[in-house]
Amino acid sequence: MMFVCLCATLVSGSSWTARTYPKEQVDIWTQRLEPIPDVNSEFTSLDSVTMDDSESNAVQFDARTRWPGFISDSRDPGLCSGLYSFAAASMATDRLAIHGVATTVLSPQYLLSCGPKCRGCKRCGISDTMNNVESIGFVSESCFPYVSEKARVPQCPANCKNGSKFTPIRPKTVYKEFTVKDDVSTNGPLVVLMKIFPSFNRYSSGIYSPSPDEQYVSGEPVLIVGWGTEGDSGYYIVKCFRGASFGERGYARVTNRIRLWFGEGFGVSFEQ
Ligand SMILES: *[C@@H]1O[C@H](CO)[C@@H](O)[C@H](O)[C@H]1NC(C)=O
Repeated sequence: MMFVCLCATLVSGSSWTARTYPKEQVDIWTQRLEPIPDVNSEFTSLDSVTMDDSESNAVQFDARTRWPGFISDSRDPGLCSGLYSFAAASMATDRLAIHGVATTVLSPQYLLSCGPKCRGCKRCGISDTMNNVESIGFVSESCFPYVSEKARVPQCPANCKNGSKFTPIRPKTVYKEFTVKDDVSTNGPLVVLMKIFPSFNRYSSGIYSPSPDEQYVSGEPVLIVGWGTEGDSGYYIVKCFRGASFGERGYARVTNRIRLWFGEGFGVSFEQ
């Protein structure tokens, strides 16, 4: 008698499990993707520049265990394509908490509705988003709650929802050269752009790697929150903006053979 393994969800030859998400959900993820940068653009490629630093390859790091309770949940922007505004607000939320300034969830809506650059749910690149952060700062989610799930964007109001004046929090922007691992382990999660392959839309758990014959489709802003190794392969831990039902409670561990890019100058700091 022959026994057939029914481990249908383990993707053959790899160490991650797959599941099927609703088609409408996958369509939304796909439509929100960001273009992969050209060479010589505002991005620096992470794997070739800073992440294959062998001296830190043995080190495991996870911002969620380093700063328990200070790393905000993965949120899902819905039909709105302003993913960098979400990523920037999430990065700043976490860094604000880590530096002991405040535990306030910051509002992506404020950047979408009030930022001088690419206002609305359009795609907005990393440097335009950063310009918005520099010119208007952040207000809290309770001041200006998120309402653009259906991609309708209200005009910038004069005040918070409860009528009190906006009092923006202004982080310093980090323009000095930094290595990603140093920055993340000191300041907290950092926005990076990750190459997305079709099979990532089926990622459930484990250490994701695309199959060798897959072509990437585009890129997606995520926050790098940590890294580690399993067997011979290194991986990153990323916070995805796909909501908590995606992957490992909104997070994914992905092989460090996938290219990530970070935008030079995209770090923010709340150090006094
Ligand atoms: C109004 O909301 C802001 C932001 O959430 C808060 O800081 C402020 O205390 C609130 N004001 C009143 C009067 O409730």
